[in-house]
Amino acid sequence: MTQRTRVAVLISGRGSNLEALIGAARDPACPFEIALALSNKPEAGGLATARAAGIDAVAVDQRDFPKDREGHERAIDAALRAAKIEVVALAGYMRILTPVLVEAWAGRMLNIHPSLLPLYPGLDTHGRALAAGDGEAGCSVHLVTVGVDEGPLLGQARVPILPGDDEAALAERVLAAEHQLYPAVLADFCRALK
Ligand code: GRF
Repeated sequence: MTQRTRVAVLISGRGSNLEALIGAARDPACPFEIALALSNKPEAGGLATARAAGIDAVAVDQRDFPKDREGHERAIDAALRAAKIEVVALAGYMRILTPVLVEAWAGRMLNIHPSLLPLYPGLDTHGRALAAGDGEAGCSVHLVTVGVDEGPLLGQARVPILPGDDEAALAERVLAAEHQLYPAVLADFCRALK
């Protein structure tokens, strides 16, 4: 088998999408391996999940770079390159990126967003979908560009919005779809790279 694509997953918290990607990569036929988990917050729960799975996990603490977003991103970029990363997957990375990192990884950085983009970029996606009276919601995987949640779409999954749904119920349904969508889209993306 050809070399698997070395993927880094960038997180800020829980890391359930990271966990789904780690799980998918256990399949020997998966075209990617999760080579690094990286967080801007040392307390992110996903770092422990990665370590428990035997995956290198590092924090590049944003508090070590006060008022210096670009310096923080240069440090992240250095960690990615030291780990020989080929593709970066943002998964709940809750900090808006500057062109420093976006341009360094243009065409090789993906993000997952919990809405059917271009609907509801940014935060509070489920609250806004419910308030609009939408009949369906979903999630999107897209390439990262400088505009927040604006890059070209690589894949989407749809779920129904059911009577009586609140934000928590909808978020749980969408998250389950995220855990299916992200590994599938990342696998297609990595196959197309080779
Ligand atoms: C997910 O809903 C993802 O779409 C959004 O942030 C959440 C991260 O959840 N960008 P987790 O950390 O992967 O559990």
